Amino acid sequence: MSKSTVNEDFHDSAKLHVTGRAIYVDDIPVPSNCLHILLGMSRISNGKIIEMELNDVKKMPGIIDVITAKDIPGKNDASPIFGDDPIFAESEIIYNGQVIFAVIAESLEHAKIAIKQARIVYSEKPPIITLAQARHKETLLCPPKIVSRGDFASSINHSDHIIEGEIVIGGQEHFYLEGQAALAVPKENKDIQIFVSSQHPSEIQHKVADVLGLSLHNVSVEVRRMGGAFGGKESQANLPACIVAIAAQKTGKPCKLVYDRDDDMRITGKRHDFISAYKVGFDVNGVINALRIQHDMRCGMSMDLSAAIAERALMHSENSYYIPNVEFIANLYKTNTPSNTAFRGFGGPQGMLAMERVIDEVAHFLKLDPLTIRKRNFYLDNKNPMQSEQQTPYGQFVKDCIINDLVNKLEYTSNYRSRRKEIEWFNKTSNEIKKGIALTPVKFGISFNKLMLNQAGALVNVYSDGSVYLNHGGTEMGQGLFTKVRKIVADTFGISSNNVKVSATDTNKVPNTSATAASSGTDLNGMAAYLAAFQIRERMAAYLGHLYQCESSEVIFSRGKIIIFDEEKMTFSQAAEKCWMGRISLSSTGFYKTPDIYWDAEKGEGRPFYYFVYGAAVSEIVIDKLTGESRVVSVDILHDVGRSINPSIDKGQIEGGFVQGLGWLSMEELVYGNDGTLMTHSPATYKIPAFSDSPINWNVEFYKGDGNIEETINRSKAVGEPPFMLAMSVFFAYSHALTSLKESYPSLDSPATAERLYYTQF
Ligand code: MTE
Ligand code: MOS
Repeated sequence: MSKSTVNEDFHDSAKLHVTGRAIYVDDIPVPSNCLHILLGMSRISNGKIIEMELNDVKKMPGIIDVITAKDIPGKNDASPIFGDDPIFAESEIIYNGQVIFAVIAESLEHAKIAIKQARIVYSEKPPIITLAQARHKETLLCPPKIVSRGDFASSINHSDHIIEGEIVIGGQEHFYLEGQAALAVPKENKDIQIFVSSQHPSEIQHKVADVLGLSLHNVSVEVRRMGGAFGGKESQANLPACIVAIAAQKTGKPCKLVYDRDDDMRITGKRHDFISAYKVGFDVNGVINALRIQHDMRCGMSMDLSAAIAERALMHSENSYYIPNVEFIANLYKTNTPSNTAFRGFGGPQGMLAMERVIDEVAHFLKLDPLTIRKRNFYLDNKNPMQSEQQTPYGQFVKDCIINDLVNKLEYTSNYRSRRKEIEWFNKTSNEIKKGIALTPVKFGISFNKLMLNQAGALVNVYSDGSVYLNHGGTEMGQGLFTKVRKIVADTFGISSNNVKVSATDTNKVPNTSATAASSGTDLNGMAAYLAAFQIRERMAAYLGHLYQCESSEVIFSRGKIIIFDEEKMTFSQAAEKCWMGRISLSSTGFYKTPDIYWDAEKGEGRPFYYFVYGAAVSEIVIDKLTGESRVVSVDILHDVGRSINPSIDKGQIEGGFVQGLGWLSMEELVYGNDGTLMTHSPATYKIPAFSDSPINWNVEFYKGDGNIEETINRSKAVGEPPFMLAMSVFFAYSHALTSLKESYPSLDSPATAERLYYTQF
């Protein structure tokens, strides 16, 4: 067989993915003594365990042990920050699906039979499930969070018009194809190794160490890849990792836990659903003067990452608009449901959707095209001399704004205005079928809200044959991070990506890492890896310069060759060997922290984001008013990725993010019963977009600008989350279609399912 090379632009695991040979946690070959874990979960949402009888489970064939909270040597907590996520319920039950015990068995089949012997008696209290119930009982998890500027209360009275309204924004299940999964392998002397599907290996290391009462250096965590994560494995992989660790330490054997789909959907938190109430004051032209939005968020039974998510929601509630007087408030409500968590956009989408709803309603009131209102309220572009004075409500200067130029271009290339006219004409003549179109913008801040998290490390080894081994703190979840960072390192050495191997993320190789999240994976790890490779290249160049009696700056690394004064001296492999012979260190770490960002939490002011990502989309939809059925006909996207490191991957992120956003806003609906049972716990009842739901016409373009104005790696821009919010255009296209069916503003709630589209017309 010939040695085949894969196109360098492809995902680094493309071939493994398509041949089914990529290894996920459940595929890792395990020793024959590996034990399997099945979880015993609560069937009630609120109450106490009165009696628990698990001895009959233990007696069943193939059962090794049954563990509960009593078996935890250290802390009974899997939470990321606040210490409020019990691993196993002790006596109190706080949600339906809460883990109470774990059956450790020779096989999953044995466990499934034995678990039926468990007997638990509860005393039940009425649960708090809905936001309405939570408001009524005032179950705030923490004081409200606020971002404000100017004087909303007095300025709203100077507005020509005032509108008040409310939008209900549904949650969303992550539906990563690979469920939560973890494997623990005990090593000598209490050491333990964890393989897990997690965006945050260092946090897994912390949690496992706390749970087992070990030091961090006793616990090593490896993440090769995830079969999707979308924020759902930022904190919520902690629980399965802690459980396998406890089981492995107790039994002294490797232990594995893989949630099946139904368990995964019942146990894990989702995107927060919101009820966002707004009051807006504006002039006759639709220029907004004062805006208040109150976001009530369903957080579930604990804090998880809700505080940071609320902050990001508030910091995106003005989206791309300069509004002088604002008051954005977030109320974080506790409910007896799974703890809602990070999900692509991290609160940003909900904040922005409320803002876009305000624009849509203002436009309807003034009988103007919403795009006109949007443009009248945009932040000024950075080329506009007045722009330097515009700050966000949280005091950050919007130095890199291009939204006007970007939207103008998209408006032109998509023929938005004439299509809108045609559609309105069509809607006048068509009785059952109605069309709609909308153009919505996105401005998304890049960096973690928490300063400390904006750091990354990498390790690069060049071996004596010139092959390169790369490790960095980021994790691969399908977003193509490894492929991008590999390319950055390859380019630094002037070699092909195929000569660089990216190894599994490993807390032993690069310590103290941040979650791969906030879309910052490439910005952080790409720069750290570049700095590591750069140091090695400098050492090689100095040594080769010395051999060839030239300056090290005259040693050029290009196309796998070393070139000095336009002459090819040797291959990169030969250079590596020469340097090794010459006793030059060919290994280096790299470290990067995002510069120039700061945040004063007390004042709620600063520069939390290194830069903003901008994009816009035009979506056209068609609905059948008799059934509410709909179809996305056409989508035009213009999105800024800066100078792309990998155009195919960036395009994939834009399309994938958009479709996931479309699912959130138009078909995915979580339904809890009155008792808190999740009714939609499988694909049979929870509808995610299928291939046939993607737009019939797709037109995705990158904005042609000067690249990132900040010194990011190659002047690229983060791409993971922002495109998700481009799908707001679909939602407001529905809203547009509905305006042809009723006089008053069609206050459409999300998701715009067939059912909701149908009844909103009345
Ligand atoms: N793309 C794929 N295919 N799978 C994922 O799980 N997660 C998204 C986004 N794109 C995700 C994805 C989320 S929530 C984030 S924060 C970013 O990828 C994280 O990766 P990055 O920082 O490398 O962009
Ligand atoms: Mo993404 S929600 O920041 O993991």
